[in-house]
Amino acid sequence: MAENESNQEEFTLQENRVFPPPAEFAAKAAISGMEAYEKLCAEAATDYEGFWARLARENIDWHKPFTSTLDESNAPFYKWFGDGQLNASYNCLDRNLANGNADKTAIIFEADDGAATRVTYRELHARVCKFANALKSRGIQKGDRVIIYMSMSIEGVTAMQACARIGATHSVVFGGFSAKSLQERIIDAGAVAVITADEQQRGGKSLPLKAIVDEALAMGGCDTIRDVIVYKRTGGNIAFQEGRDIWLHELVDGQSAECEPEWVDAEHPLFILYTSGSTGTPKGVQHSTGGFLLWAALTMKWTFDIKPDDVYWCTADIGWVTGHTYIAYGPTAVGATQIVFEGVPTYPHAGRFWETIAKHKVSIFYTAPTAIRSLIKASDVDEKVHPKNFDLSSLRLLGSVGEPINPEAWMWYYKNVGQARCPIVDTFWQTETGGHMITPLPGATPLVPGSCTLPLPGIMAAIVDEAGADVANGQGGILVVKRPWPSMIRTIWNNPDRFRTSYFPEELGGKYYLAGDGAVRNKDTGYFTITGRIDDVLNVSGHRMGTMEIESALVAHPMVAEAAVVGKPDETTGEAICAFVVLKQARPSGEDAKKLAAELRTWVAKEIGPIAKPKEIRFGDNLPKTRSGKIMRRLLRVLAKGENITQDVSTLENPAILEQLKETA
Ligand code: PRX
Repeated sequence: MAENESNQEEFTLQENRVFPPPAEFAAKAAISGMEAYEKLCAEAATDYEGFWARLARENIDWHKPFTSTLDESNAPFYKWFGDGQLNASYNCLDRNLANGNADKTAIIFEADDGAATRVTYRELHARVCKFANALKSRGIQKGDRVIIYMSMSIEGVTAMQACARIGATHSVVFGGFSAKSLQERIIDAGAVAVITADEQQRGGKSLPLKAIVDEALAMGGCDTIRDVIVYKRTGGNIAFQEGRDIWLHELVDGQSAECEPEWVDAEHPLFILYTSGSTGTPKGVQHSTGGFLLWAALTMKWTFDIKPDDVYWCTADIGWVTGHTYIAYGPTAVGATQIVFEGVPTYPHAGRFWETIAKHKVSIFYTAPTAIRSLIKASDVDEKVHPKNFDLSSLRLLGSVGEPINPEAWMWYYKNVGQARCPIVDTFWQTETGGHMITPLPGATPLVPGSCTLPLPGIMAAIVDEAGADVANGQGGILVVKRPWPSMIRTIWNNPDRFRTSYFPEELGGKYYLAGDGAVRNKDTGYFTITGRIDDVLNVSGHRMGTMEIESALVAHPMVAEAAVVGKPDETTGEAICAFVVLKQARPSGEDAKKLAAELRTWVAKEIGPIAKPKEIRFGDNLPKTRSGKIMRRLLRVLAKGENITQDVSTLENPAILEQLKETA
């Protein structure tokens, strides 16, 4: 209680605190001062297409220049730079060979066990070309979909770039997803190959990857898959299916280190990345090549103010969008040196991040609030892992992504990691947006803890009410983007109707992109604060999950009759999953309930992946429903928080049930 009170107090204090950009930082920044920011915004407001065309010409090498910038004729299926042609891998690699970066380190691979491997741009280029030729040797070609189910590795990034080089569309599936989740994605994408590793190495343990691919393919329905290409990471024992499975090293051996890039249209799908929505199965978010790459490169310059000498480290996994834009493509597109980290923040100790920053002299560090919160806790328990024990003098900029960062965590990050001299960019964006949308610019924007501040130039973000009308600053509403932007989602793979209805709802006029988040702008500054999802999407440790997916997994268990899942605030993970379950048999209690709850957790991990395991499971004879049978989720949210229900329950058919559902198994 005391802790909560002090947090509350700090929150109010910090809300008023403003941190202007350090003068020295601003002096050298790509966008220096608010006037420079406003100038760019004005340019976009005056000549929207001209603004984007200029940036696309300055930041991307086009094989065939575009003449059309934005085509809105088939809205909301927008086309950017439609008649231009390029290759993403050419822009990320060949360009660096030509501009003097050939011998610059592209990737420092920091393995789980602390071993570091470096590759230069020249070496990365050769590896990508060999990999690309290897894919071609298996008959993989432009337009084919390739699933990448790998952990963090140089090979993972190489696999993505190799697909891009030959015009194959990759779909990376996070290594923590289950065989079933993998199978669903393989089927939906109609993929021809899976690129995986024998095992992954995380936190001192070897975990299966290839075995999960085998399991997924054995579930059936994956008839489009011809090849399983396996990178040998640990040398662990795995099964090999003759004719289908092939070692990556054998496949690339003898391939040429030159591979002419496949020139593709700007709208050619660079990748599909599955993410959760409020209903149904995960959506295959389809991204373009030209617009996506433009924004990846440009936001590296604007938001991260990337400079030739920087050592940049984004701790995300390539299985999420952050690992696409800000590991595989953005840093390479601007010729940066980056760390690719295989491990976990707490192995061999919870000072691993700080130790690694010191070891490689990292200057830009980009991580998630969940990681920060768990490391705050860890250093409270063990002072040895506190950032103060490590030399963090190389840092000049910090970033945060994936979920709201609470002001307490922001202040700790600012003081202890950034030593009160590094700006923090709290970057709001989504899988669908392809890159940063609302974020401070480190050399321009005065920072306020807990606010992602202002939209990037050219991003027409606004807050509207349910009818699509603008709301005044200070009033909460729905976050929308009023104009299309180059790196936006192009469609949902296999489901254009769902794309239209999910993101461009008629109620808002059919023209505004609906982000799915609530937001409010500060009365005085106009700064945005994201208030959280307005749909049934949860954000647990920065991982996005649909409540319905977890509910479907639960009801697939033979003993479960009905389930409802809600989020509950959690100090470390932001939100935690709380499941209310009705069994086909009588409601269990005591040890029986505990045992069954444990079984259901394991079940969900198997169905979706360990990240979807409910933290709490509560059993009831029924769920709170209206007379028409609708589950009253708002009541479940209150119960999950452990609060008393003060809302109107007159429409509730079975009020007695509420008492039962207060108990956690
Ligand atoms: O709710 C917002 C939250 O994460 C959602 C997007 O999740 P995903 O597509 O997995 O992408 C995560 C990495 C970009 C958003 O709808 N979110 C992301 N960044 C922030 C955030 N919420 C508040 N502040 C942020 N900086």
